[in-house]
Amino acid sequence: MNLIIKSKKIFIPLFFKFTIAIVAIVLTFGTINSYLIYSKVYDFIKLESEKRGVLAAKALIESLSEELLTENYIDVQKSIRNFKKNDSSIEYIFIYIPREDIIIHTFTDGFPKNLIGINSVNSSTDSKFKIFESLEDGKKILDVGTPIENGVFGELHIGINENFAMENVDETINVLWIMVTIFLAVGILGAFLFSIFITKPIIKIQESADAIDLSPDKFYTVPEIKIREKIFGKFKPLFRTEDEIDILCSKFNFMLYRLMNAYATIKAAQDKLLESEKLATIGTMASGIAHEVNNPISGIKYAVKRLLKNPNNIEQNKEYLEMMLEATEKIESVVKNLLNFSRKENFEMCEFDIKEIIKKVEILLAHKLDKGDIELFLNINEKDKIIYGSPSHLQQVLLNLILNAIDAIRTGNNEIKKIVISVTSDENNSRITVEDTGCGIAEKNIKNIFDPFFTTKDVDEGTGLGLSVAWQIINSHNGSLVVESVEGVGSKFIIDLPKKGNQDA
Ligand SMILES: Nc1ncnc2c1ncn2[C@@H]1O[C@H](COP(=O)(O)OP(=O)(O)OP(=O)(O)O)[C@@H](O)[C@H]1O
Ligand SMILES: [Mg+2]
Repeated sequence: MNLIIKSKKIFIPLFFKFTIAIVAIVLTFGTINSYLIYSKVYDFIKLESEKRGVLAAKALIESLSEELLTENYIDVQKSIRNFKKNDSSIEYIFIYIPREDIIIHTFTDGFPKNLIGINSVNSSTDSKFKIFESLEDGKKILDVGTPIENGVFGELHIGINENFAMENVDETINVLWIMVTIFLAVGILGAFLFSIFITKPIIKIQESADAIDLSPDKFYTVPEIKIREKIFGKFKPLFRTEDEIDILCSKFNFMLYRLMNAYATIKAAQDKLLESEKLATIGTMASGIAHEVNNPISGIKYAVKRLLKNPNNIEQNKEYLEMMLEATEKIESVVKNLLNFSRKENFEMCEFDIKEIIKKVEILLAHKLDKGDIELFLNINEKDKIIYGSPSHLQQVLLNLILNAIDAIRTGNNEIKKIVISVTSDENNSRITVEDTGCGIAEKNIKNIFDPFFTTKDVDEGTGLGLSVAWQIINSHNGSLVVESVEGVGSKFIIDLPKKGNQDA
């Protein structure tokens, strides 16, 4: 019997599982870190920019207070331009004096009007901040608006390029992602090596398990499994320590050893059982033969005695001689069946048309079928009709099965009286079934029907050898003969025969 274990689960190698885990961990770690760096450093830089803007604005207002009071706006203009030049992160500076509607600024191409009111200080005495995106180049700009003389005089605005500050953050994050990529590469390589280290021995154990051959001559030679011999061969003293896989391997070897022992014990027990079964069969056969042969012999003995007593009574002698003939025929049939039971030499195996054999059997049994008012049906496809076996023996098997079916239908009281023979086949076997609507077999008898001399029929009607002979013949074909039966409903005998070339399967 072949036990094929099929798993329905999807197979994902350990390497992929390790890799998925590592990629997930490293990517999560990288993303969380970049987010933290981005938000924390960005907040910090923003705060620093604000502080720097306020300090710069205050310093400028301080240094320009005189020029502003004397309305020397040309010098104010010069000073703020100089101030801007010294700090490359400053995008613009402008002073808005609402009461005179004057704007002093550092823009070379004219003042963009939309800047007025974008971060209005109004009446506030503290600086105000606003981040906006420049319309021209999309740069992020932090506008620091600071009131001059508590807002009475006007307001000074410094625009600080935020992108400039963010470049530092971006650089840090870039470095982090380079590190993440390196970690990923090292991690995947590690996963690869680790999985080889773990899976190679497991595959070896798996292959050894697959290779275990339970046939008697090979089973005892199951080799011990050795793992990691090659990897560690040279560096054994350095690396060869034990881990879980080594323990698994040695446990597996131990299991093999125990399996071998258990197998040997079972084999011995089975042989013993077979031996005792054989003895039991011989016993049953001997008593069966004695019974089957004794009855006609006593009949003959009785007839001979009568003949001797009255040798001149021709009429009576004829009757006794007929009785003797019947008894010898009975003995002859028992002997014939017995010979069939043990003889194998006449097996002439060939491929033949089973339909022809069934026809012959039908002709032989025609009168019995007619007498019992029984119909015989044949179910067979052209492609299934060629069977491999010994035609004469298989004819006898069919004859025995159909004879039994006829007897069963006669005993039973089913209105439908029919026997159906079906032949089917697959690539390895041919299957012949003989199904009847007879009395069926009592459950307690099913296990015995293939035993020699087991019969439920009267002494004159059956010897109990038909099915055992059939079983013996099918067995010699390396096939199988089984029965399915429901008492009162009918029986089905199933013969499976290997096709040509499939005899050892
Ligand atoms: N188709 C069947 N339906 C019901 N019972 C069956 C059928 N075939 C066999 N049996 C039972 O199995 C027993 C054994 O059958 P088997 O053919 O070996 O011997 P037999 O028919 O009794 O005698 P023989 O075939 O030697 O003349 C039968 O006595 C019967 O009880
Ligand atoms: Mg029979």
